[in-house]
Amino acid sequence: MTTYTFPHNFLWGAATASYQVEGAWNEDGKGESIWDRFSHTPGKIEDNSTGDIACDHYHRYEEDIALMRRLGLKAYRFSTAWARVLPNGRGRLNPKGLDFYDRLVDSLCAANIEPFLTLYHWDLPQALHEEGGWTNRDVSYAFADYAALMVKRLGDRVKYWTTFNEPSVVMFDGYLVGEHAPGIQDPRAAYQVAHHLLVAHGLGVQAIRGANSKAEAGIVLNLWMADAVSEDPADVAVADAAWERSETLFLDPIFKGHYPTAAYELVGEDMPKIQNGDMALISQELDFVGINFYSRNLFNAQGQIDSVPGSEYTEMGWEVCAPALRRMLVKINRNYKLPPIYITENGSAFKDEVSTDGKVHDPRRLDYLKQHFIQTRLAMQDGVDVRGYMVWSLLDNFEWGHGYTKRFGLVRVDYETQKRTVKDSGEWYAEVIRTNSVAE
Ligand code: FCB
Repeated sequence: MTTYTFPHNFLWGAATASYQVEGAWNEDGKGESIWDRFSHTPGKIEDNSTGDIACDHYHRYEEDIALMRRLGLKAYRFSTAWARVLPNGRGRLNPKGLDFYDRLVDSLCAANIEPFLTLYHWDLPQALHEEGGWTNRDVSYAFADYAALMVKRLGDRVKYWTTFNEPSVVMFDGYLVGEHAPGIQDPRAAYQVAHHLLVAHGLGVQAIRGANSKAEAGIVLNLWMADAVSEDPADVAVADAAWERSETLFLDPIFKGHYPTAAYELVGEDMPKIQNGDMALISQELDFVGINFYSRNLFNAQGQIDSVPGSEYTEMGWEVCAPALRRMLVKINRNYKLPPIYITENGSAFKDEVSTDGKVHDPRRLDYLKQHFIQTRLAMQDGVDVRGYMVWSLLDNFEWGHGYTKRFGLVRVDYETQKRTVKDSGEWYAEVIRTNSVAE
């Protein structure tokens, strides 16, 4: 048996996002967000559900923090809902909304859990969407004002500040394929949106640091490794080209200060408008980078292979391939000068059931996490500076376009009663945290 031990201050945690767990969509003065509008539009969500109630975390956050404490979590990654604080996205403040995050942060601190805060996990205030949303450069400035406001209020207790969660998903799913809010399908808009998200990130980093010099600023990117089926140069070339085309679109501007050549070629006449000074703003040094990792794409010389014989797949249809996480971490560490890395999301959706013993036995999720923890530890031995790990997710929750049909939680949520049940994977994770090690 091999035991993989982690550095003593390794930040073990779990993640959620405002729209996916909070509920209370129109309570205490909260404004409407694009996800409220989208989920309320018939036909957009697989099971016709909404985030109106979700996990009711808005009312049950104390119970949830007690659970985190029982599991021994050292960090909780969550996001703040912009429209809860600024119902119109700018201007009039909603004190009750800000108070909620103040209480949440206080309770986390009292439980000795490090708050790891994301300012934007996709729920743009609808009022800003009506001004053009992310296609309108002004929204980037509004984001910086919102960031400064949050840091001024919470920066004495929150050290880790993330500007954006997965900007590529905002751009791709929100503005190119339209399967996420705001449901737009327009390539030209999408590339302009990508640029404005990056500008907003740069302005946000400045605003965070301007509001509190001790704050650490970063961004969260989702990356899928692009693997080749063999070492045959023809297969490798196709995998490398796929990586360059999709995964570098945000890495390059942030960590190299320019857009990737491959993206330029692909974008053609849809190239966004870039103003003088934008690339320097976008590529400011960061204190950390968050990486969300779920799976990989596999290629041979002919193109992408959709189903890999012998591989296991999650309910999302994503291949389980933990070694790809190590390869990906080593690759980005080689190609970029990166700040410390946090795995800000990693997890899996499986069909869970409550057994007759009242428990949720989820061996596949447990094994998924175990393999990914081990591969991360191996990447650290390869020289990658990983400082922490947030499992997606603390709770089963509203999985965007899939509604409640996919369960990612370490903790099961019964949506009828809001009862929480720690799954086997959650109990096992508690032990990993307690011993700061994983045994295989
Ligand atoms: C990521 C999102 C997160 C969750 C997981 C499954 O792309 O950041 O909110 O939906 O996927």
